[in-house]
Amino acid sequence: MHHQPVMINEVLTLIASHSLHARILDGTLGLGGYSEAILQHFPDSSVLGIDRDSQAIAFSLERLGDYEASSRFSSLHANFGNLAEIPECRDYDVYVFDLGVSNMQLTLPERGFSFQNDGPLDMRMNPSGQDMSAADLLRLSDADSLAKIFWDYGEERYSRLIAQAIKHSTSPITTTAELVSVIRSALPQPVQRKMGTHPARRVFQALRIYVNNEMGELENLLHSLPSLSHDALIIFVSYHSLEDRLIKHAFRKWQTDGKGKILTRHPLVPSEEETAENYKARSAKLRAFCMNAD
Ligand SMILES: C[S@@+](CC[C@H](N)C(=O)[O-])C[C@H]1O[C@@H](n2cnc3c(N)ncnc32)[C@H](O)[C@@H]1O
Repeated sequence: MHHQPVMINEVLTLIASHSLHARILDGTLGLGGYSEAILQHFPDSSVLGIDRDSQAIAFSLERLGDYEASSRFSSLHANFGNLAEIPECRDYDVYVFDLGVSNMQLTLPERGFSFQNDGPLDMRMNPSGQDMSAADLLRLSDADSLAKIFWDYGEERYSRLIAQAIKHSTSPITTTAELVSVIRSALPQPVQRKMGTHPARRVFQALRIYVNNEMGELENLLHSLPSLSHDALIIFVSYHSLEDRLIKHAFRKWQTDGKGKILTRHPLVPSEEETAENYKARSAKLRAFCMNAD
């Protein structure tokens, strides 16, 4: 299982430029790509890796076991939206967050995140701690609510058409393939051809964001970060304009409130080489903030 870390060179350069980088919190451990690069690059550092997905932690430990054995790496199954309530997450020199889903979540069919692999329509990042799967959401919501979710979180132009087709489906939709098939049958062929992307991509993205309350957890995190450390470097890599907007506004507010300085007046984006090599990187935006900078 491999996840090619996005914009890792930019992340490492920013960390190197920060006066302190002995204690680093990787708030979205995933498959451990960022944590591993940080531990290799900064031999005096230690990393705490957090993920709300226990399967991600298990995979990352296969990669980071030696660092764990030498006490340079430790992990915690937690949601970054609750960071303020976890005492061991305070006073780090660097907090880094690489938002969204990992390759593991996308490629394991049983996790139900992908329109390309058939599996149960689940999409919960923390199945043991979240009640509502994507299939439950489709079953329990009316067409108007679904259309709003598809529009708000997927900017799906045909949100109403798709939502109505889901609600008119003769049996409950319980697998990813069934949902793809309903979306395909709802959209006329010429529309599908014009879309320029897989016809289910936007709906799957919207369901994932909603099921995992991704915007709410990010808002909680942005609210708590200034109280967690007084001179930390904060780095965010995001993949969606809604996330980027929340981060941009939070950074501006922190700066206006005298909490520190924005380091990226415009977000950094991946190099052409990186986007050519890694399709997932194409929409990445990196923003950084230094708490208490003069
Ligand atoms: C893009 S992946 C991170 C990949 C990682 N940087 C790497 O190089 O392997 C995002 C990870 O963040 C986790 N995640 C998403 N929302 C989270 C939250 N609210 N709290 C903790 N982890 C979260 C996901 O489960 C996923 O494993």
